[in-house]
Amino acid sequence: MDAATTATSLPWGPRGTTRSGDINRNGTLCVTGGVPLRGRVRVGGSKNAALPMLAAALLTDGPTTLRRVPDLTDTRFMLELLRELGATVESSDGTVRVDAARVRPDALPFEPSPVRVAAMRGAVCLLGPLLARCALHGGGAVRLATVGGCDLGPRPIDRHLAAFEALGANVERDQDGVTVSVDRLKGADIFLSAPPTPGLPPSPTVTGTINALCAAAVADGVSVLNGAAREPEVVAVGELLQAAGAEIEGLGTRTLIVTGVRRLRGVSGRCPAAVVPGDRIEAATWMIAAAATGGRVVVDGVDPSEVAAVAAALRDSGARVSTCGAGAHQSVRVASCGRPTAFEVRSAAFPGLPTDVLPQLAALAAVAEGTSLLTDDVFPERSAHLRRLPRFHASVERAGATAVITGGDLYGGEVHAPDLRAAAALLIAALAAEGTSRIGRASLLLRGYERPAEKLRALGATLGEPARAVGKRPARRSGRGGWRAVGPRRILRGTRPVASETPACSAAV
Ligand code: EPU
Repeated sequence: MDAATTATSLPWGPRGTTRSGDINRNGTLCVTGGVPLRGRVRVGGSKNAALPMLAAALLTDGPTTLRRVPDLTDTRFMLELLRELGATVESSDGTVRVDAARVRPDALPFEPSPVRVAAMRGAVCLLGPLLARCALHGGGAVRLATVGGCDLGPRPIDRHLAAFEALGANVERDQDGVTVSVDRLKGADIFLSAPPTPGLPPSPTVTGTINALCAAAVADGVSVLNGAAREPEVVAVGELLQAAGAEIEGLGTRTLIVTGVRRLRGVSGRCPAAVVPGDRIEAATWMIAAAATGGRVVVDGVDPSEVAAVAAALRDSGARVSTCGAGAHQSVRVASCGRPTAFEVRSAAFPGLPTDVLPQLAALAAVAEGTSLLTDDVFPERSAHLRRLPRFHASVERAGATAVITGGDLYGGEVHAPDLRAAAALLIAALAAEGTSRIGRASLLLRGYERPAEKLRALGATLGEPARAVGKRPARRSGRGGWRAVGPRRILRGTRPVASETPACSAAV
């Protein structure tokens, strides 16, 4: 895909894994912090849109070509899964052509490789398209091993399965996974929201909505998807299906009305719906990194309306955030106005603040003046990043789903990344810290960020082997990072300190 590609030695063996400049062969990244990030950065295509768009290409009866597919470990993984299922896949410079003509159900269920499914949450996106393909070819079954993913707390797929059952599929669960079989899919009323914790508002499921959409697109009659997710990734898949001939109303709202069709045609790469949208979580990560390092960064290639909630959080922390450019070429500019101040945020379904930026905002809170409160209502148990931030001398406590973070100066540390977004949080902490940090398993970043080290270097970050001992508390210097030391730290009553690093959880997202 690009010059940074190498053959892989990973046990599950995709045809090459992504590399990024300063992340060494052991997956470690050294960062010397305290340098404000300055410049322009362009985000790649969205991981969480590209994965289900690639899976949806299984539904079309002619070849489908997608553009701006990011070169990530996860997208390579998905291409391998498609090949294993019988699709012909060609990929070059972000353009991927998928021809599913040979993907046909037979006596055996479709079964995406259990090893890959256990490693990548995004594999769950195959369930809806494969089931739909079975229905289009007179019946069949799909077997999905238990899906893996980042340790964000419980990640059930009960809403996905309930949607398939409502559409007429038969679902059999066992201890190793699930088998879903179908003769024909029939239009139905489907409910997609579920409370992550009793007492919290129901949260719509993003990949569950996409799976239900794919299955309903070829069901007999009309389906109504209630409590659907409104995330841009759902809209992107819906628009791709529309370009293939699907009849879908209400994209971007909580109610989707889908009238099933008998066939979906291949989509040309020239079609606007074949272009993967910019990655809003990557954009948010660079925006937060700019604010945390006292920098000034313009982020290109993302729709500013998709990062509005992140912009609001950064403004609360004292940064200036504005848009520049016009139409489809708008960019987001973030300029620090000195040391960030404490802020309070709560994750929510789109257009609320994404759960996937709470770890990065936790790193910002760790350098902000005062005590910040960050509550994750979507994944209340997401906390791997909180257990690692104290490695940088951050003061972190946790009360239920709320992280209580008292900001101060950070110092370089040695730490292992537990998952993708936690790795992004540790990277931001290292960029904002005095001295040099060594982040083990930083290669997890390559699951969701295209060439992150090259992008950071272009913004002025100092990466590579340390000039002085890792984790050594350096003499405080004025002027670095552009802010003053803060006063004594305040401990909130009723919270509990977060223990420093615990064993790493699953590597996958
Ligand atoms: N939920 C249920 N039942 C279900 C499905 C979900 O109770 O059947 C609950 C979950 O436990 C959670 C909430 O609903 O509390 C939302 O989960 P959702 O299903 O939306 O998550 P997902 O679709 O598995 C995607 C992204 C995640 C992102 C979440 C939330 C992909 C491949 N993954 O996961 O991305 O955090 O939506 O926006 O699209 C990441 O990119 O780092 C990442 C973890």
